[in-house]
Amino acid sequence: MAPLITIERHILDQQRLYPQSTGAFSQMLYDIALSAKIIARETTRAGLAGILGASDDQSMNVYGEQQQKLDIFADQMIFKMNDHTGRLCAIASEESDTLVQIPPQFPVGKYVLLHDPLDGSSNIDVNVSIGTIFAIHRKISKGEQGTLEDALQPGRRLAAAGYVVYGSSTMMVYSAGNGVHGFTLDPSVGEFLLSHENIRVPNRAKYYSANQGYEKYWTRGVRRFTKWLQGIEGEGREPLAHRYIGSLVADFHRNLLRGGIFYYPGDMQKQGDVAGKMRLMFEAQALAFLADQAGGYASDGIGNILDIQPHDLHQRVPMFIGNRDLVVTAETFIRDNDPEWVDAYTAFREKKPKFD
Ligand code: AHG
Ligand code: MN
Ligand code: MN
Repeated sequence: MAPLITIERHILDQQRLYPQSTGAFSQMLYDIALSAKIIARETTRAGLAGILGASDDQSMNVYGEQQQKLDIFADQMIFKMNDHTGRLCAIASEESDTLVQIPPQFPVGKYVLLHDPLDGSSNIDVNVSIGTIFAIHRKISKGEQGTLEDALQPGRRLAAAGYVVYGSSTMMVYSAGNGVHGFTLDPSVGEFLLSHENIRVPNRAKYYSANQGYEKYWTRGVRRFTKWLQGIEGEGREPLAHRYIGSLVADFHRNLLRGGIFYYPGDMQKQGDVAGKMRLMFEAQALAFLADQAGGYASDGIGNILDIQPHDLHQRVPMFIGNRDLVVTAETFIRDNDPEWVDAYTAFREKKPKFD
């Protein structure tokens, strides 16, 4: 019988790797795990608790998307679990236009939490897996309060990142820079138990995940890459199976465990969509950090997502993530076929951040 290791125990063991750590970091991961347990409970009874469907005040988030009640519940839950702990100097959420300050009555700390509280919102009402994505940066600015400069750091500097997938079981997967580890929630005891230690992307990919409904908008290189994955173009490779759930966390999780590539490319058809739909600070950086830690790779089509210097809190980014050989092949197809997109996106990518 494998030893029962709770996420709390695992985080403490990981903390021993950093003798100088004050424990604040470990505490923060507990807080996120606890938020996940509470959100998990709500997702399993969303249909009953009347929190199904669009929020009744028809609120929209900064992207102009209808906010689902569970989005708001999850966002508020994560804030309430973290605003008073004295471990954070600011919180950034996909659901908030600007950086959220720590209320003045609470102490501030030396980390910034960035999160997508409810990923896959369009799947809430149809009982398909959804998730939460989080990333933790260290404070680098002077002064007490967190600033945009603390939030807009490249993914290479992340202290930790992870996600929760609310599916047939609830799993929390995280890395603090020492490998990727997965924990499965045992609802009968309310503990996340270590179930997947040191996850590595399998060498052979099984799946590709992309919304081919938008293929007509894709650049020539991305369309040819897709035909290559299907064994239609190129040296007649064995085709990959296609799986696309529409919840990034669930698609990423399956590809992490079974091998595969997820991509959401930018395009040139709809003005301003050169960077596509994925959110750099709330989705892509965290998953790129995990992919890197698990032996995979995440690219925006030009280079490593972890090397991007963000210029905006709600910056979009094209994302190709999973088996390194497949992601590198995508970059090659793009470089060889899409010079116009490469120029337009590079100009967007290199914009200077505004920290004021
Ligand atoms: P969110 O619910 O946080 O807005 O994220 C939804 C994202 C991601 O989860 C998913 O991969 C993608 O949107 C699906 O987009 P399309 O419906 O355009 O394929
Ligand atoms: Mn999302
Ligand atoms: Mn979301």
